[in-house]
Amino acid sequence: MPCTVVVGGFWGDEGKGKIISYLALNDKIDFCVRTGSVNAAHTIWHQGKRYALHMVPGGFVNRKCRLLIAAGANVHVGQFLKEVEETKVKDRIGVDSQASIIEEKHSTQDKASAHLKGIGTTGWGVGPAIEERVRRTAKMAKDVPELKPYLADVSAEANEAIRKNRMVLLEGTQGILLSLFHGTYPYVTGRDTSASAVCSETGVGPTEVDDVLLVLKSFVTRVGAGPLPGEISKEEAMKRGWFETASGTGRDRRAAPFNFDLAKRAVMINGATQIALTKLDAVFPEVKSVRAYEEVPQEAKQFVARVEKETGVKVTFVGTGPDALDLIDRRE
Ligand code: IMP
Ligand code: MG
Repeated sequence: MPCTVVVGGFWGDEGKGKIISYLALNDKIDFCVRTGSVNAAHTIWHQGKRYALHMVPGGFVNRKCRLLIAAGANVHVGQFLKEVEETKVKDRIGVDSQASIIEEKHSTQDKASAHLKGIGTTGWGVGPAIEERVRRTAKMAKDVPELKPYLADVSAEANEAIRKNRMVLLEGTQGILLSLFHGTYPYVTGRDTSASAVCSETGVGPTEVDDVLLVLKSFVTRVGAGPLPGEISKEEAMKRGWFETASGTGRDRRAAPFNFDLAKRAVMINGATQIALTKLDAVFPEVKSVRAYEEVPQEAKQFVARVEKETGVKVTFVGTGPDALDLIDRRE
C-alpha cells in the first residue's frame, strides 16, 4: 500500500486519528498529507498524551514522517502555529503555497449566519472561508509571512514520493455523510469528503492510489443537526456506553446503532478496498483490549463477518480500546 487514502464512512469521528497514528508508526509512513480544514479534530494518543489535532497531520507520531498540508486545504494560521509548537514538528512540516487561509472574520460570519447556525456548524468559519475562495478573493498561504518557512509544493512532493515507492498516506477528514456532494444536504460541511476529494485536494491522480481505507465506528454518531437514522436518546446512549462528546467543540454526539446500508454506500462512493472497524469494545464489552483476533468472542466475530459480507470488503483493522495498541491488524 505505497499510497493509501484514509476516509471516514459516517458523519466523522469514526476514529481516523487512531488508525492513522497506528499506520504512521507500524507501516513506517514517509509522507502524511492532511486535507480539509480546522473544523475537524483528529484525536491521537501518543506517549501518554492526548492530542486533538485540527491542522497537523496525524502521522506526526512517526518522527521520520514528512508532514504536509494540501493545496485544497484551508489553513488556520494561529491553530497551525500552535500545533506545530505542541507537536514539535517545525522542521518537517510543509504547507502548500496554494492552500487558502481561514480568518477570524469567517468564524464571525459562521456564528452570525442564521442558516449556518441552524446546521450546527463547528463555528470555525470553514463554509464562509471556502465561499471566499470560490469568489477568488481569499488570502493564500503564500501571502502570509508567518507561513513563509513552511511553504511547499505538496502535489509535487507527494507524486515524487509515490514514484519512488515511498509510503504515502492521504488523510481525509470528517465522513462521507458530511460531504457537500454526497452527504445529508444541507446538513453537511463545506467540502466534499470522499476519497476522490482527498486526492483532488492533494493533487494526486486516482490512478496513483493503491488502497482506500474506510474507517467505520461500530456504532454511528453525529454532531450538529440533520437526520440520523435509528437515533437513540442520550440516556440510552449513556447506558450502552456510546455517549461521546466532540473532540473539537465539546458538544454532545448523537448516537445510533451501526447501519449496514450506510456502510455499503460509503464503501461504494469511496471505492474502499479495506475497512477499519473501530470501537468494537463499545458494542461488545468482552472485546476490550483484546489484541488477537482468535480471542474475540463469537458474537463480535459474527458482527465483523456481517460487515464484510454486506459490504464485500475485508475488515483489516479492529479497534478494541483507546490505547494505540488496542488494535487488531488482520492484514496478511
Ligand atoms: P462545519 O463543517 O463547521 O461547517 O459544520 C457543518 C456540519 O458538519 C455540522 O453538523 C458539524 O457538526 C459537522 N462537522 C464538521 N466537522 C466535523 C468533524 O470533524 N466531525 C464531526 N462533525 C463535523
Ligand atoms: Mg473528529
